[in-house]
Amino acid sequence: MRTLSGRARLAGVIGWPIAHSRSPRLHGFWLAQHDIDGAYLPLAVRPENLAAALKALPILGFGGVNVTLPHKSAALGLVDRASAEARRIGAINTVVVGADGLLEGSNTDGYGFLEHLKSAAPDWRPEDGPAVLLGAGGAARAIAVALLEAGVAELRLANRTARRTAELAAALGPAIKPVAWAARSDALDGASLLVNSTTLGMAGQPPLEIGLLRLPRQAVVYDIVYVPLETPLLAAARARGHTPVDGLGMLLHQALPGFAAWFGVTPEVTPELREFVLAAI
Ligand SMILES: NC(=O)c1ccc[n+]([C@@H]2O[C@H](COP(=O)([O-])OP(=O)(O)OC[C@H]3O[C@@H](n4cnc5c(N)ncnc54)[C@H](OP(=O)(O)O)[C@@H]3O)[C@@H](O)[C@H]2O)c1
Repeated sequence: MRTLSGRARLAGVIGWPIAHSRSPRLHGFWLAQHDIDGAYLPLAVRPENLAAALKALPILGFGGVNVTLPHKSAALGLVDRASAEARRIGAINTVVVGADGLLEGSNTDGYGFLEHLKSAAPDWRPEDGPAVLLGAGGAARAIAVALLEAGVAELRLANRTARRTAELAAALGPAIKPVAWAARSDALDGASLLVNSTTLGMAGQPPLEIGLLRLPRQAVVYDIVYVPLETPLLAAARARGHTPVDGLGMLLHQALPGFAAWFGVTPEVTPELREFVLAAI
């Protein structure tokens, strides 16, 4: 039986609501695997209590937390320091309590996105050609920043609400090429990567309607939705011979930097971890 000592390291995930979060299961797997004297807790914190909850972390002896919906943007303004990437994205998902007791914020969603892309589609290169990103929400911002920083020279962006496409393009610079939502299928011409970061295709949501005919056969298709694991988009991509990349790996990889900082062990994303988390989806 695993029990905690009085010296146990503490971390968790702050969200509202939090009951649906897979993060406690994911971090719990690594804690057990490495036999760590530590705990990762689901922390249900209302928006009006976020500032107080973050401020309490050093007092309570927490090494830090993940921050999830709806707090990711607000938390950026509440930490003492934030990485340049997090500031560019405008949101954080990871807080580490520094040796000086100050809160350091970072955003590992883009890291998780790219790490999973590298492992699931190892032949894809940022210089292979334009990428197409569907969506302009929180996840899209992190993915756009990650792709640009990885060296993608042209990122075609389509979102249902055109105002949000324009805002993201204005914030991230000329490499972002806004595309009308109605023209999303045409935008696939010559692309090396298609990413869905909308909620379309998620269980309970309508499927993403897009024609893949113009997408070159060697292009990679990445859907960050992970419920279900194989979305209609990924099924269509697989049928056409594209390399399909599902959303679960992004979730697993984004957790890694936080775990390493809080618990002092760099864990691995393995097939066993994937199966363990998948069993609860
Ligand atoms: N795999 C992972 O680790 C990971 C991480 C983060 C998020 N996700 C998943 O990614 C998805 C987006 O998350 P998010 O945090 O970015 O959400 P969000 O900020 O709420 O953004 C939602 C996006 O979906 C679009 N959308 C929603 N309904 C639509 C519809 N009927 N037609 C066209 N577009 C529609 C929105 O367009 P408008 O701007 O027009 O509303 C917006 O671009 C979710 O399914 C989430 O579970 C996965």
